[in-house]
Amino acid sequence: MKDLEKTLKELEKKIEKVTNSNELNDIRVEYLGKKGSISLLSSKIADLPIEEKKTFGAALNDTKNKATELIDAKKKELEEKALNEKLAREDIDISLPSLKVPTGAPNILENIIEEVEEVFLSMGYDVVDGPEIEEDKYNFELLNIPKGHPARDAQDTFYIEDEKILLRSQTSPVQARTMLKAGGNTPIRMICPGKTYRRDADDATHSHQFMQIEGLLVDKDISLSDLKGTFDVIAKKLFGEEVETRFRPSYYQFTEPSVETDISCFVCKGKGCSLCKNTGWITVSGAGMVHPNVLQNCGYDPKVWSGFAFGFGAERLAMLKYGINDIRTFYQTDLRESSTFDRKDV
Ligand code: DAH
Repeated sequence: MKDLEKTLKELEKKIEKVTNSNELNDIRVEYLGKKGSISLLSSKIADLPIEEKKTFGAALNDTKNKATELIDAKKKELEEKALNEKLAREDIDISLPSLKVPTGAPNILENIIEEVEEVFLSMGYDVVDGPEIEEDKYNFELLNIPKGHPARDAQDTFYIEDEKILLRSQTSPVQARTMLKAGGNTPIRMICPGKTYRRDADDATHSHQFMQIEGLLVDKDISLSDLKGTFDVIAKKLFGEEVETRFRPSYYQFTEPSVETDISCFVCKGKGCSLCKNTGWITVSGAGMVHPNVLQNCGYDPKVWSGFAFGFGAERLAMLKYGINDIRTFYQTDLRESSTFDRKDV
């Protein structure tokens, strides 16, 4: 019995000094293994008188259980210690700056269109849509450009079917559609941003696909000065309060009179630079008073109603605003371009 107590005490002392699981395993083998000191003590049972056999057997079992408990407790302690050390080592430093995740940026053309839409919406205009696959009737005929008219040549059109169905070469057909829908008896204020197509060879200033923003206002007693005032407000909102505007005479079949609308160069302030080709002025849109024939064709009596219309090239606006000198930039899928021109950075 004394041996049992002694062995257990000795085991306890050894366990106290253990620092890792290998040492602990060695101890387990030393005491509880087949030839371990506790196992060997059980061989003594055979030599004992019968009445002692029982008490010694019970004490031996008790010792075995205690030894197992001691070893298991130490094992748990070692595992916990190892886990805590591992956690301490792998501690995350939340003050470290994170890796930069590349993010997308809004498309520049969309930015410009949204900006123009906001300006016009604030002035009570509606934003409307129209089909890109259009009928000749809307793209040309109702706009005072009959078949065979030389003006059609200027808009090298993609025809789809028999000179009847085409890819719209301008957003102006939406003027005709809007007037016809309105029924000839209500005022109209609308803009229509959208894609247009022409059989142009792509270069720095031409693209076979581009975007226009069409505008139309129809009401009673509308004059060219209303167009001038409207254009002035828009130019200032888009290009800055100090910008001045002017009209130059021009020619479009669907407007009479027709004008080119210019803004004073916002880079050189009118002194002359490469952007304005030393003229001090930059052309931003075509415009004019809606031709009486167009009003008539679209159900508005030109003796009662008058109006103005205009057409901006969206890429041109974006190129001016962001200093882009090649229209193809918008149609190449180079992500670096869109992030460079992120509006918030400009
Ligand atoms: N549709 C013309 C073009 O593509 C632009 C334009 C000019 C639209 C004058 C208009 C306008 O509404 O009044 O060149």
